[in-house]
Amino acid sequence: MKKKVRKALFPAAGLGTRFLPATKALPKEMLALVDKPLIQYGVEEAIAAGCEQIIIVTGRNKAEIEDHFDISFELEQLLERRGKTDLLAMTRQVSHMARIAYVRQKEAMGLGHAVLMARDLVGDEPFAVILPDDIIAAEVPCLQQMIEVFEKTQSSILATQVVEGPSISSYGVLDCTADAEDPRLVAVRTLVEKPAPEEAPSRNAIIGRYILTPRIFDVLENTALGAGGELQLTDGIKGLLEFEEVYGYTFEGTRYDAGDKLGMLKATVEFSLRRDDLGPEFREYLKTLSL
Ligand code: G1P
Repeated sequence: MKKKVRKALFPAAGLGTRFLPATKALPKEMLALVDKPLIQYGVEEAIAAGCEQIIIVTGRNKAEIEDHFDISFELEQLLERRGKTDLLAMTRQVSHMARIAYVRQKEAMGLGHAVLMARDLVGDEPFAVILPDDIIAAEVPCLQQMIEVFEKTQSSILATQVVEGPSISSYGVLDCTADAEDPRLVAVRTLVEKPAPEEAPSRNAIIGRYILTPRIFDVLENTALGAGGELQLTDGIKGLLEFEEVYGYTFEGTRYDAGDKLGMLKATVEFSLRRDDLGPEFREYLKTLSL
């Protein structure tokens, strides 16, 4: 019987050092892109793709994430009293959008370790992983595109994008071969986390969307610490290749690295311009700047 992807996992225990000082006391997942915290974009994407359960791996100082998706009693009362029905509806929608379970990652030991923390909550079924600072604007949500492929392959799938230049060494990189039928699909031969630019096996970088089969948990349990002394998800997936096929998928859409200051600025401009309520005025404002 074909397996379905019902659960989406969000690693959110990282320290967000690339965005200091904003992330000194605020979780990076709570940084606002226009008017929504980054993690909400990811949760909305997972729900749009048909996921029924959200699992967020948090750590110390991440309470704001739980508060955000919880009912805000005082705020709701205030908005009700003031007759702000639109804002009230928006606030309620956030607290009712998903079934969310939280699990703590007590030590910052890497993305693979964060995924392993959710083993009991995921159980024996395929699941999605969304890295909340990778924001992807797409007509069909990126995760939905990947789930459609998974429904055919029933194999693990990693979102991938071509990255030129030395910044390839900020990513996991695929060594892969083209699929005979689907031009967006590649079969992964092996993969390497954050290679030196001259050692990158290709330009195909891993972007923060994964669909993984549950065997990844056993493999991660037996994976040695890798780059940066952390348990890398990339190394776990490399181990998975000894048992199963893994594919890379070139998604349709634009990805923003919103965990990075410049990436966040680009996303802010483009997302604002696309908004009906802000776009027209913002466009006029931008035109007045002498650049
Ligand atoms: C993580 C992964 C890396 C992937 C990247 C995508 O790295 O370890 O393989 O390419 O996300 O954003 P990080 O950005 O957490 O250093």
